[in-house]
Amino acid sequence: MKIAIINGPNLNLLGKREPEIYGSQTFEEYFEALKKVFPDTDLVYFQSNSEGELVSKIQAFGFELDGIVLNAGAYTHTSVAMRDAIAAVPAPVVEVHISNVHARESFRHHSYLSAVCVGGIFGLGLKGYELAIRYLTVI
Ligand code: DQA
Repeated sequence: MKIAIINGPNLNLLGKREPEIYGSQTFEEYFEALKKVFPDTDLVYFQSNSEGELVSKIQAFGFELDGIVLNAGAYTHTSVAMRDAIAAVPAPVVEVHISNVHARESFRHHSYLSAVCVGGIFGLGLKGYELAIRYLTVI
């Protein structure tokens, strides 16, 4: 089984970015630990700050792999192009947000992506990625 984690804009700054909201661990550190939690799953990680690159990766992974865990960052709240890419591919996509977007500014309450994802996790910190992978490994 092969699963991709895709992180969107500003998530390359995890560990440094607003640690009171997003924690103090870098995603690279977390990803190393995550691979040990799922020794039988081939995990790949991609991050980009660019919407077009994210669309291209959803297209590529979405026809190749068994599932995608996607934190689209701020593009969650703006991107029809990412929504269309998710809808276009056969792989199930789980939407993840580290913070509780519904407890934050109202512009974070709407997701263009949720309706075309199989489900979503928000507000559970980095643990949300692990839970999403666990789901994808049992469906
Ligand atoms: C986020 C929430 C988004 O609103 C924000 O733009 C992010 C991170 C999260 O993981 O909590 O960049 O997706």
